[in-house]
Amino acid sequence: MVAWHRITALSSLLQVGVLLLLLSARSSGRPQQKCLGGKACQPPRPPVVLIPGDLGNQLEAKLDKPSVVHYFCYKKTDSFFTLWLNLELLVPVAIDCWIDNIRLIYNRTTHSTSSPPGVDIRVPGFGKTYSVEYLDPSKRSVGMYFFTIVQAMVEWGYTRDVDVRGAPYDWRKAPNENKEYFLALQQMIEEMAETAGGPVVLIAHSMGNLYTLYFLNQQPQAWKDRYIKTFISLGPPWAGVAKTLRVLTSGDNNRIPVISPLKIRSQQRSAVTTSWLLPYAHSWPKDQVLVQTPTTNYTVLDYKRLYSDIGFEDGWLMRQDTESLVSDLTPPGVAVHCLYGSGISTQEGFQYCDKFPDVEPTAVPGDGDGTVNLQSAKQCGRWVGKQKQPVTLKELRGNEHVNMLLNSTTVAYIKTVLFSP
Ligand SMILES: *[C@@H]1O[C@H](CO)[C@@H](O)[C@H](O)[C@H]1NC(C)=O
Ligand SMILES: *[C@@H]1O[C@H](CO)[C@@H](O)[C@H](O)[C@H]1NC(C)=O
Ligand SMILES: *[C@@H]1O[C@H](CO)[C@@H](O)[C@H](O)[C@H]1NC(C)=O
Repeated sequence: MVAWHRITALSSLLQVGVLLLLLSARSSGRPQQKCLGGKACQPPRPPVVLIPGDLGNQLEAKLDKPSVVHYFCYKKTDSFFTLWLNLELLVPVAIDCWIDNIRLIYNRTTHSTSSPPGVDIRVPGFGKTYSVEYLDPSKRSVGMYFFTIVQAMVEWGYTRDVDVRGAPYDWRKAPNENKEYFLALQQMIEEMAETAGGPVVLIAHSMGNLYTLYFLNQQPQAWKDRYIKTFISLGPPWAGVAKTLRVLTSGDNNRIPVISPLKIRSQQRSAVTTSWLLPYAHSWPKDQVLVQTPTTNYTVLDYKRLYSDIGFEDGWLMRQDTESLVSDLTPPGVAVHCLYGSGISTQEGFQYCDKFPDVEPTAVPGDGDGTVNLQSAKQCGRWVGKQKQPVTLKELRGNEHVNMLLNSTTVAYIKTVLFSP
């Protein structure tokens, strides 16, 4: 959802063979301000935790595999290497090795996923910012993610890894398979709040908003009152994303010609979050045709049949395992600023010829930020008046899903929220 979009520029870059490098940014290292006289007071800046979206932080892998899909794939590595985002692994042929390492295997008995035998995956940088600032550790601009926001915050007095910290996670999995992550997140928030002497601001992007909502829904109200100042929600897919139907059905290379959609489809299907993000019946019209073939129309109520017809029965189980995690859209119980782009052509339906599902569809355009459909992003509006904390919606016309993180309007808005009492 996140980086595929960002790397649409990849194909031309690969052809030219030149990638732009951005200078690494240094933290200002300014000392923390302290409250005087031991009185309860607001810290000058609230600490901030960044929660990334799908594909929105680095992943590393270490291999000791019994077998590989090609003789030239690495079978064993001495140490961890970057699996995401690593552009060298996404070029033709190498991508086959990459898919065989990053895919998940679903167990129908335990309803859980695991990496293929001999593949050890870890999430680097929890509590730091580098893993969410740039998806690619070499800091290529195509993988730039939270960098602009973090850099602006440093200019406002923040210190990387101290009072602005990242909470990366294994975005292939839904919250039901990331229990330890939520414990680590809770602990980090408590530590940051105690160090700063005041509550924390959460800034989430894309699927990170569903992760954040799930997290907040698990916490007692007293905990939220004590530790959370505000939740700034950027590009939230509260009711899912129509494009995931295309991803599941025929794969989506985001128009990167060197990547075959059908090939990448196997990896995209194996990630549980793809099924978690399918459009939700609570917000999608029941009669809206999402996927159309010469013989069948599929709506938000026809997923079981769709999974069966595309030959991906495990997907229906994944959907059932994860559908209820946040489908009630229970109010988060903290102050919310919900920012989302609109006015950009966003796929909302897919028409397939008789080669379905192994063919590219014709997409039906709708409104949104280019990835998240507007009707999904706006669902935070249902919390207005349903919780005592304020809920503010801000539609940003012309803001694209990932580029909104670079947009000066977004950055200025975040500054206003952080420095308001
Ligand atoms: C699924 O998990 C069960 C219980 O741990 C195990 O016995 C079974 O072998 C697993 N199935 C596969 C296909 O790995
Ligand atoms: C699918 O829906 C369209 C309208 O959205 C309709 O024209 C078409 O006949 C339907 N196809 C089937 C097989 O029901
Ligand atoms: C930034 O966001 C504003 C408000 O939505 C929009 O008008 C502007 O075009 C955006 N700028 C860029 C460079 O995308």
